[in-house]
Amino acid sequence: MTSENPANDDLRQRQKDARAEIDKLDANSTHSEPERKAFFNTVYQMAEGDAVRVPWADLQAKEKLLDWLKGHNGSGLTALDVACGLGDNAEAMAAAGYQTTGFDVAEDAIPWAKKRFPESPVSYVHADLFKLPSSWYGSFDLVHECYTLQALSPQLLPKTTEAIASLVKPGGTLLVYTRIAPETLQQSGPPWPLNKAQAEAFSNHGFELIAEDQFTIERPDRRIPHGFYEWKKNI
Ligand SMILES: C[S@@+](CC[C@H](N)C(=O)[O-])C[C@H]1O[C@@H](n2cnc3c(N)ncnc32)[C@H](O)[C@@H]1O
Repeated sequence: MTSENPANDDLRQRQKDARAEIDKLDANSTHSEPERKAFFNTVYQMAEGDAVRVPWADLQAKEKLLDWLKGHNGSGLTALDVACGLGDNAEAMAAAGYQTTGFDVAEDAIPWAKKRFPESPVSYVHADLFKLPSSWYGSFDLVHECYTLQALSPQLLPKTTEAIASLVKPGGTLLVYTRIAPETLQQSGPPWPLNKAQAEAFSNHGFELIAEDQFTIERPDRRIPHGFYEWKKNI
């Protein structure tokens, strides 16, 4: 199946080619925490400013986030975009009125995001999810993560989930955008789509599930199941 916009198909093909090149980078990796960090650093470095060579970079905010933000004005509230990459989702949160911070462990992603949005009110920070400033814990009204949980290996997932959960203020909101997979799927990432138990693990960290939207993204050669989750942290 092709999309209605041939330019999108061309972009997808170029992203696919880049993905094949990138897959070779970590072909023999055990996907440990340091290896994942090195992998992401290398992807942004190798791209040399060409976003097509960053396969997850759509250069636009996710529609699900934009739709959610339409009903949630952020005036007077803080937001954090976890692993913000090139910044599009963080920009959307700032445009909705949130005082927004975006951080990423990849050194080259942060100056790239700043260069793309020179007038941005977003505070872009080079930081590691597992070593964040202590003042960030429990301090954001809205925390958003897109494709981070699935980008770190299943053995890192409990730690990743806990780290993301810890950033939300009591009473605050967490939004998660991720690929999902049936329980029975043999996981052979990266990426590692989340199964039901993994996607719902925030309920073990004091969160209540407010909304769950399962949907499929269509690509010319495949259909990719996704989930968009809204969680509220208990007070
Ligand atoms: C698949 S990309 C998604 C990027 C962005 N959220 C988006 O949707 O375009 C995963 C991102 O996680 C970042 N990342 C990986 N490990 C991280 C860590 N420990 N701390 C912060 N960012 C990390 C990578 O550098 C990369 O930008």
